[in-house]
Amino acid sequence: MEQDVQKSFIQQNIVNVDDDKLKEIFQDFQEFMIIYSCAIREVRTKFEVLNDHLTVTYKRNPIEMIKSRVKKPQSIVEKLKRKGLELSTESAIQNLNDVAGVRVICSFVNDIYEVANMLASQDDVTVLEVKNYIENPKPNGYRSYHMIIEVPVFFADNKQYVKVEVQLRTIAMDFWASLEHSMKYKKDVAEPEEIVAELKKCADLIAETDLKMQSINEQINGSKEIFNKEFKSLSIY
Ligand code: GTP
Ligand code: MG
Repeated sequence: MEQDVQKSFIQQNIVNVDDDKLKEIFQDFQEFMIIYSCAIREVRTKFEVLNDHLTVTYKRNPIEMIKSRVKKPQSIVEKLKRKGLELSTESAIQNLNDVAGVRVICSFVNDIYEVANMLASQDDVTVLEVKNYIENPKPNGYRSYHMIIEVPVFFADNKQYVKVEVQLRTIAMDFWASLEHSMKYKKDVAEPEEIVAELKKCADLIAETDLKMQSINEQINGSKEIFNKEFKSLSIY
């Protein structure tokens, strides 16, 4: 099934090619997908290491869950077409920032900023773009902290810098985004405007609740900002 989709990606781009050429393109596409799945593993590990260290050393557990995905070949083709871009792996590498996606779900809003800052300060991470939809929510109420980063991935005979889209959000923001996203696939919803308005209200309530929960947590467990105060001393070398 996956292979069929890959073939259709290839065939939409290249018409009238012989079998050898098709095999070469197919191989090229597989390599393309592997590079992104390896980059995802690198970035997931970075977050897992941060979470383990913060848990053991600071009795903090900022990350609830990490989800990740490589964009489906079908969606890569659709996005390239939508943007009027050339249909090729080179074009996808050049123009798409979200072929590799990592979503980090935190309990509290301040955890998001701390974990994001810790990641951004790592030597081998280059932050290419930040979109703070927590401070500047989308008109529909969408909130999350987005980063496009680039990380080096080391292969047998070369090193490649790979872009990864990182989305950080609270559990509640993730809950909201999942429901809102599901609406995009339901074209036959009755009274969509009403649902959009209800979702916007929920998003604002969630944002308020997230801040209240954070404040209660600080009252119970104290404020533990590690990044600003102690980050430099985290180094063990
Ligand atoms: P895309 O071309 O869609 O990738 O948008 P963009 O390049 O402007 O990036 P942006 O940072 O706005 O959004 C990237 C991703 O964030 C999307 O692919 C979704 O996963 C998520 N996202 C952004 N806006 C919304 C939204 O309104 N609702 C939901 N559920 N998710 C969103
Ligand atoms: Mg996207």
